[in-house]
Amino acid sequence: MRVAALVSGTGSILDALLAADVPVELVLADRPCPALERAAAAGVATELVARDRFDAGFDRDAYSSLVADALDAHGVDLVAMAGFGTILGQPAHDRYGGRIVNTHPALLPRFKGWHAVRDALAAGVTTTGCTIHVAGLEVDTGPILAQEEVPVLPDDDEASLHERIKVVERRLYPATLRAILDRGTVLPPDDPVPSHPTTA
Ligand code: GRF
Repeated sequence: MRVAALVSGTGSILDALLAADVPVELVLADRPCPALERAAAAGVATELVARDRFDAGFDRDAYSSLVADALDAHGVDLVAMAGFGTILGQPAHDRYGGRIVNTHPALLPRFKGWHAVRDALAAGVTTTGCTIHVAGLEVDTGPILAQEEVPVLPDDDEASLHERIKVVERRLYPATLRAILDRGTVLPPDDPVPSHPTTA
């Protein structure tokens, strides 16, 4: 399987994928970002499909088609979102549905969305975590492949808690992608929609 990573941020999750020898053939970003620079420095093919290229305002479907075109051009089989700041629309799911995997810094279905870590803190939970899942059309939905809990400490702020979660993501996400590559299917064939989140 040819793997593409989709990025927008610092790229620490991408670094973990590369360090774990996940065979990332393409790194695609929706904006100039450190992650894209790290990919180029590592010798991985890069594509910038800038989301601000639309003069008349953001067109999610048109943008998603451009992303899918870039994935097609690189012969991508599996898409690993690694801190990607754009929700992909129907055209991307039409072509890559079921083959887009995401890591989210909360225990889904709790705390969906961009502010998952902040929202978990605000809710006063003592445990949060991360979730690796197949991406559905709705943000932070789709079959769960792996989850792991992370404690919230009394003096945590958003940055300290997010970093503690990312430490787990940097281990769990490569392991989950490796399992997908080893079995050749995104979902485990004997448990297509796991009722109990487990490490894939
Ligand atoms: C991760 O916490 C991921 O779950 C979230 O964005 C973060 C990416 O971190 N969607 P980085 O840019 O790779 O450091």
